[in-house]
Amino acid sequence: MTYLETAAQFYSEVAQTPQIGLCCVQSTPLQLPGLNIPTQMQEMNYGCGTTVHPTELANQPTVLYVGVGGGLEALQFAYFSRRTGAVIAVDPVAAMREAASRNLQIAAQENTWFDTSFVELKAGDAFNLPVADASVDVVAQNCLFNIFEPADLSKALQEAYRVLKPGGRLQMSDPIATRPIPAHLQQDEQLRAMCLSGALTYDEYMQRIIDAGFGQIEVRSRRPYRLLDSQSYNLEEHLLLESLDSVSFKVPIAEDGACIFTGKTAIYTGDREIFDDSAGHILQRGVPAAVCDKTANKFARSMPENVIVTNSTWHYDGGGCC
Ligand SMILES: C[S@@+](CC[C@H](N)C(=O)[O-])C[C@H]1O[C@@H](n2cnc3c(N)ncnc32)[C@H](O)[C@@H]1O
Repeated sequence: MTYLETAAQFYSEVAQTPQIGLCCVQSTPLQLPGLNIPTQMQEMNYGCGTTVHPTELANQPTVLYVGVGGGLEALQFAYFSRRTGAVIAVDPVAAMREAASRNLQIAAQENTWFDTSFVELKAGDAFNLPVADASVDVVAQNCLFNIFEPADLSKALQEAYRVLKPGGRLQMSDPIATRPIPAHLQQDEQLRAMCLSGALTYDEYMQRIIDAGFGQIEVRSRRPYRLLDSQSYNLEEHLLLESLDSVSFKVPIAEDGACIFTGKTAIYTGDREIFDDSAGHILQRGVPAAVCDKTANKFARSMPENVIVTNSTWHYDGGGCC
């Protein structure tokens, strides 16, 4: 069996016998007015963060959801789009598609606004998405891509890039590792399937997204996820996994590199009221301006006396340079 087959078998099992808390994080589930999430669907919340960003889902976007699980986020996306076929949910595991279908039927009984036709469930996988090039506004995946070995992760990211319209968004949530995960854990297919040993470091994860062609990446959240403790996992030291929510845009990569927003700001402290760096950044004295990490580094290097750069908040939600 390949590691992908092991993962498929694992998800077939947890589709038939839900494992409550398999991947969950310390955060309140997204509550929306008039949205009732069936208990069965909630119990199959196998995401490690959220990919649904309510303030960015205007105009009924077409969403391709990869790895449907129990259908929770597909339902949440459908809440915003509310039209037939707006959410295309892809999963290679028949038992998981069946479970999602059942849960969505219950959701239709519990939500007057929801019709099961809003979510189209399709067999397929992350490496061969069953839609045309440049045909969707959003691709979302929650706690799936971390399972993939690096070369497969790159394939999945390239496939997401292919199906997105220009300017479209890849909305992801995945565990990342605070240091490289040792080989003996990476090779453990069961742990990998459980989202515990395939995670890359932050830098590696970001670089794979950029290598797939995404010109702008925004970090929405970064928080502790799981501890691989030294005793249970045969490690010299404990290894912390974090959960990273991000949105990557299909826009061209600038000549000087991709823009990654992690919540940094630049604050001009010099003599002038306004400082214009002639590269698109206008800073008003004393007023924090959101900047990407690339711009933050440039300011920190070139104007350390006149610009204060604040730390990453790991919670960026709009505004700023680039
Ligand atoms: C950790 S679960 C996440 C489920 C869902 N996103 C959620 O947040 O609850 C991973 C999902 O990806 C599916 N999956 C496994 N291998 C896949 C692949 N190669 N391509 C697409 N989906 C896959 C599994 O069947 C399962 O539904």
